[in-house]
Amino acid sequence: MAVNENLRTPIVSVMGHVDHGKTTLLDKIRGSSVAEGEAGAITQHIGATEVPIENIVNKCGDPSLKDRFIVPGLLFIDTPGHHAFTSLRSRGGALADLAIVIVDINEGFMPQTIESLQILKRFKTPFVVVANKVDRIHGWEPNKNSSFLASYNKQSERVKSDLDNKLYEVIGELYNIGFNSERYDRVSDFQRNIGVIPISAATGEGIADVLIILLGLAQKFLEGNLHYDATAPGTGTVLEVKEEKGLGTTIDTILYDGTIRKGDIIVVGSLGDPIQTKIRALLKPRPLSEIKAEEKFQQISEVTAAVGVKISAPNLEGALAGAPVRVVSPETVDAITEQIKSE
Ligand code: GTP
Ligand code: MG
Repeated sequence: MAVNENLRTPIVSVMGHVDHGKTTLLDKIRGSSVAEGEAGAITQHIGATEVPIENIVNKCGDPSLKDRFIVPGLLFIDTPGHHAFTSLRSRGGALADLAIVIVDINEGFMPQTIESLQILKRFKTPFVVVANKVDRIHGWEPNKNSSFLASYNKQSERVKSDLDNKLYEVIGELYNIGFNSERYDRVSDFQRNIGVIPISAATGEGIADVLIILLGLAQKFLEGNLHYDATAPGTGTVLEVKEEKGLGTTIDTILYDGTIRKGDIIVVGSLGDPIQTKIRALLKPRPLSEIKAEEKFQQISEVTAAVGVKISAPNLEGALAGAPVRVVSPETVDAITEQIKSE
């Protein structure tokens, strides 16, 4: 295994217009596409899904891939409301290391598709475009969980040309906002061209292609950015503020640097003065469980970036989605509180 122990898991944001299939794509990745026959090996975190490299490589059916990839896996974030995402991005700086922009191939570009692309442009985040719902193209014969090309080659000439035309429109839209792109299998240099991957989140067609391209992007663009310092104090962003039975108000957090421990003092952004509180519990859902009931959560004593984790602590009622979370010490608490206040 070529995984480099010092590299953290890249954070991959899934973005795009309402109903274009972000959550369905993630369901497929953590469900039948990657987890089929390997249940339990996938860890699901709060508001995020961690897919270990082994699962990706096994799914793609080519053991030689193991030697090519150095990241331990991919941590996917489903972007909820677009507003929350924008604020996540600006607060966390480069919170997302990579992104997937998903567009319904039949509906084409919509306002949030364009907005997503503009955010990525601003932050210079490497990304792929996923043209979803190819199974809705009239006459499409689904080939469950197949690679896109294998399925495409089995379609009728009419279906192929229909898909080509729709894809051409997506490529044209991308060009209009300043991105050169090509169908992913025709891209030789991902630094110059964005790869567009036709998929169906419903049938699983093309999902393996998405995972492989993402690993390739991580390899090519991120190696220098993914070294982390496990001894650094934890730094993260609030994804969601949630009431949990028996725990009170908790914050679902993406930790993107350092380590966070039970008992740590943290400072969390709020509408008023930043909240200073002590971590009562750190919680993760059990692997492959639905994030629904609190008995599914596992208490852990510490966790290292990048990871999604639920934090339980007193006085979190005023915490704000998108706000920073920082572990502090008596020496750093004042400076960090001031810094969060002025953000
Ligand atoms: P928001 O979270 O509201 O922005 O939507 P979303 O992007 O997460 O979309 P979601 O995954 O909820 O999908 C919206 C609808 O499209 C659901 O009814 C899905 O079942 C359907 N859908 C998603 N992907 C596909 C696909 O590949 N093919 C078909 N036929 N339907 C799909
Ligand atoms: Mg969704």
